Amino acid sequence: MSEIKKPVFKPNKEFSKNARVKNMCEYNDLQDWATEDYEGFWEHFASEKITWKEPFTSVLDESNTPFVKWFEGGKLNVAEQCIDRHLDKRKNKAAIIFEGDRGDKQVITYLQLFQNVNRFANLLKNKFDVKKGDRVVIYMPMIPEAAYAMLACARIGAIHSIVFGGFSAEALKDRIEDADAKVVITADGAFRKDKPYMLKNVVDKALEGSTPVKKVLVVERNGEDIEWIANRDYSYYELINNESDKCEAEVMDSEDPLFLLYTSGSTGKPKGVQHNSAGYILWAQMTMEWVFDVKENDTYWCTADVGWITGHTYIVYGPLAMGATTVMFEGVPTYPDAGRPWKMVEEYKINQFYTAPTAIRVLHKLGENEPSKYDLSSLKVLGTVGEPIDPPAWRWYYEQVGNSKCAIVDTYWQTETGGHIVSPLPGATPIKPACATLPVPGIMAEILDSQTGEKAEVGETGYMCITKPWPAQIRNVWGDEERYKKSYFGDVKKDGKAVYFTGDGAVYDEDGYITITGRTDDVINVSGHRMGTAEVEAAIKKHPNVAEVAVVGKPHELKGEGIFAYVVLKQDDGVADEVEEVKAINAVIKTEIGNIALCDDMVFAPNLPKTRSGKIMRRILRSIAKGEKITQDISTLEDPSIVKIIEDKVNS
Ligand code: WTA
Repeated sequence: MSEIKKPVFKPNKEFSKNARVKNMCEYNDLQDWATEDYEGFWEHFASEKITWKEPFTSVLDESNTPFVKWFEGGKLNVAEQCIDRHLDKRKNKAAIIFEGDRGDKQVITYLQLFQNVNRFANLLKNKFDVKKGDRVVIYMPMIPEAAYAMLACARIGAIHSIVFGGFSAEALKDRIEDADAKVVITADGAFRKDKPYMLKNVVDKALEGSTPVKKVLVVERNGEDIEWIANRDYSYYELINNESDKCEAEVMDSEDPLFLLYTSGSTGKPKGVQHNSAGYILWAQMTMEWVFDVKENDTYWCTADVGWITGHTYIVYGPLAMGATTVMFEGVPTYPDAGRPWKMVEEYKINQFYTAPTAIRVLHKLGENEPSKYDLSSLKVLGTVGEPIDPPAWRWYYEQVGNSKCAIVDTYWQTETGGHIVSPLPGATPIKPACATLPVPGIMAEILDSQTGEKAEVGETGYMCITKPWPAQIRNVWGDEERYKKSYFGDVKKDGKAVYFTGDGAVYDEDGYITITGRTDDVINVSGHRMGTAEVEAAIKKHPNVAEVAVVGKPHELKGEGIFAYVVLKQDDGVADEVEEVKAINAVIKTEIGNIALCDDMVFAPNLPKTRSGKIMRRILRSIAKGEKITQDISTLEDPSIVKIIEDKVNS
């Protein structure tokens, strides 16, 4: 049963008065409407929110489930949703406010965004021969051109696939090949903590040997020397001004793909999560409006990177679809000190601030009193995303940053859900620390018992599922329909019907509120980044001395989870120099995946705990990593004595 009752914080009355959803009655009305007339609910919002070029003729087609279709017959262009339709009312409104690492600033109005995106789209079309349906990989820092690149692809119907700038050449290569991308858009590099870092050299390496990529477009950001390969590499600034600022938008079907975003699963290589046009952009806009309640004159800031889904939906697509002002930040929140975000909140009068628990923990630790040095009175809504937030970090965020007057929206969702699925609505939902609370209206999110598929009892951890298709749901794993079905619709059935399983565990409290308890599979969450332990293991196995490896997550004070690797070397005559061996293995991880997957702990063992059939008992390894007492029965192991040997090594 659930532990101590969590305190409840009611919405700020003044805020609620003007909120889009003002109280729980209004919330319940919306959710009841969706429950009673699911298609009617979505038909209403799709008609109201999207500027259709041609109206849709059906709402939801489930005839080939789980391959669902939303708003068929409808025609639109997502770039027009995000830009053109705002020009009448907002052409001189700031669409993007950019702040660079070094404090340089740029304001891009909707009209300028329109012109920049159109030039970019023309460049891709005319110079690089990018056509509707082609894949374009974007490997960029956090600069406005990354947003232009995304929207330019959307304008001409190309499918973008952003690869986070922290991934290695090998990881980039895999993603380029899997998507069969024709063009890469990158930058020479950018700035971090006042120092330049490089991206173009990583692209060069990723394209060595055979590659589907024909052309590379380079946005010069830090001005460092890079290699230019003739007839392959082109300078953005040399070409862009030759292009017209008018580009006819491609007419897209509701279900034409908009983008791919690779994400880790519990097995094998990363999956290319495919999102399509209408359903995705509808939900991006609706959740922006409901969950952040952004108003016409507000300034909204999400600190994510465009390389992750949060950057897609809540820096670019969602805010722009609703005509908001979105802040884009190149730098690091703790540089030059842990007051940087609060300084920016004061300067830009930020109204909604959205970040990850890992950033909150670091800002709390390094700058507990920093918020009090700035005027943060513009803040109305604070958001968190990416991992469970711990109550002390939540408290500090609520009290010190939000001055105990801002709602905290603990938004639970995933790359695959496209947008929020469980979250408080800031004007309506009484919140509890570290609790995602209730499904966002329209989302049939339920915790199901893992055995029976019945709704889980209060206090019993079950599987976080979504029992009806929703518009922004993943449509496919790029090029692998079987994997799509198996990954998401294989584990849980409700009333005999396969339902979408998120991979997360969750628990209801006595008020029906949902708390996410974490992944139930072999995916770990490092600083809010999803990492398949299988992926890290595959990288470590590339080291020639490694015979076997098992990777598990371990609670980490700042990162949420850290990576703990148990390594068996090929010749175990004692590791000559463990420090050197750890360095060598981490170097392989850096090459194969990138710095984000470096191990926090590595232990060399003569063997791993396995069942007699050879299955590695990860549960035992997880317990050892956490320093817990082993309570599991180990007598069935192939070699029970190994548990004590590993425990002694870890504790030594
Ligand atoms: C976790 C990020 C607890 C969860 C948007 C999910 C969360 C994974 C929360 C998705 C939250 C995300 N509370 N856990 N508010 N939000 N998660 O695809 O395990 O990078 O499955 O999408 O992050 O990570 P992804």
